[in-house]
Amino acid sequence: MKRLGILLSGRGSNFLAIAHAIDRGQIKNAEISIAISNRAEAAGIVAAQSRGLATRVIETRGRKRAQQDAEIVACLREHGVEMVCLAGYMRLLSPEFVAAYPQAILNIHPSLLPAFPGLDAQAQALQYGVAITGCTVHFVDEQLDHGVIVYQRAVPVLEGDDEASLSARILEQEHVAYPEAIARVLSGNYTIVDRRYVARASHNATLIGETK
Ligand code: GRF
Repeated sequence: MKRLGILLSGRGSNFLAIAHAIDRGQIKNAEISIAISNRAEAAGIVAAQSRGLATRVIETRGRKRAQQDAEIVACLREHGVEMVCLAGYMRLLSPEFVAAYPQAILNIHPSLLPAFPGLDAQAQALQYGVAITGCTVHFVDEQLDHGVIVYQRAVPVLEGDDEASLSARILEQEHVAYPEAIARVLSGNYTIVDRRYVARASHNATLIGETK
């Protein structure tokens, strides 16, 4: 069983998409060991509690990032977490946090990175006038919305879209993308070349290839 840790700050719909994917066996051999929020009022943490998961609130307010992150890493370790999933966690991680979980922290962002990093990615896409945007699941490094891309899904911008309608259509694709990306990473069937995520052929596929 791979132990996942979830970090969130708000609504928690991506957290729930991950939890449902574990329940239905799309993400195999994994469990959520702890859900951590930096906001006590986050709906996502209430949802985690009502699913009977271990939860912790580690508040941001008035604290240095390094101090808060050290507490989060200690909590993740306490729960044996091997992979961290940021699910609407609205805070940049310290270099110490990133170093504590090398290539084992994932994030989801509501644009096709490297376009529109940072806040309000959907509004940025509308303002820029792109015809296609989407969502990206990526490994987390020290820079905002920057690490190696694992998986992306495209979403067209439709005539008459506003921030709410576009965000809602992107969110639907986020809920597909995040579980799929986690399943792929947990399978271990990949290598990273420079900053490219390269899926490795499965054992069977390799055998078939070799007989040609
Ligand atoms: C999502 O749009 C995600 O891409 C971004 O924050 C939002 C979180 O939504 N990082 P939710 O809390 O998972 O519903």
